[in-house]
Amino acid sequence: MSSNKVHLAIFASGAGSNAKKIIGHFNHHPGITVSLIVCNKPGAGVLKIAADHNIPFLTIEKETFFRGNAYIDELRAYNINFIVLAGFLWKIPEKLIKAYQGNIINIHPALLPKYGGKGMYGSFVHEAVIRDKETQSGITIHFVDELYDHGDHILQVTCPVYPSDTPALLAQRIHALEHEYFPATVEKVVMEKKNAGAL
Ligand code: GAR
Repeated sequence: MSSNKVHLAIFASGAGSNAKKIIGHFNHHPGITVSLIVCNKPGAGVLKIAADHNIPFLTIEKETFFRGNAYIDELRAYNINFIVLAGFLWKIPEKLIKAYQGNIINIHPALLPKYGGKGMYGSFVHEAVIRDKETQSGITIHFVDELYDHGDHILQVTCPVYPSDTPALLAQRIHALEHEYFPATVEKVVMEKKNAGAL
């Protein structure tokens, strides 16, 4: 009865380790299926993950995303009703936010509102956290609105930052948290909306 399922699109531009965890989590799930991977970087690792799992992917380009239809027609053609950003670095255009109001969530590798905003992604975040001698970092899962890293928070989880940390070591600790919490949080948010008749 796949027509009753919620169809997720995962937007990712990098290695795709979070996308892989989410795909695995929803494999054979009764209510949710990953129907599309959207990527703005030809050759990104996430595209191989999509191919390995027989999930269609859409490679997008700037002009259409920001000045065209924001790929809304293509997303609708795949019956997408919920969008998960997992290492996607472009700002989401207003048009797409309006089309999927309340149905786009993002993961950020720090405790927002600190270390968010344009240019704050991946190792840049961890470098800044270490440079500022923070003793704690973590992850933020949040709804997406018109501003970078700004919408309502769904979940924050913290981890320690050690004086001996390098950005790579901290990234590993953060990735472990993301893999543990992101798929289950996506499931919780989507199922609550589905059960409330909002999806
Ligand atoms: C993740 O750590 C995610 O939080 C981060 O990119 C990484 C992608 O890793 N996102 C941002 O920095 C967004 N501002 P992955 O490709 O292995 O899932």
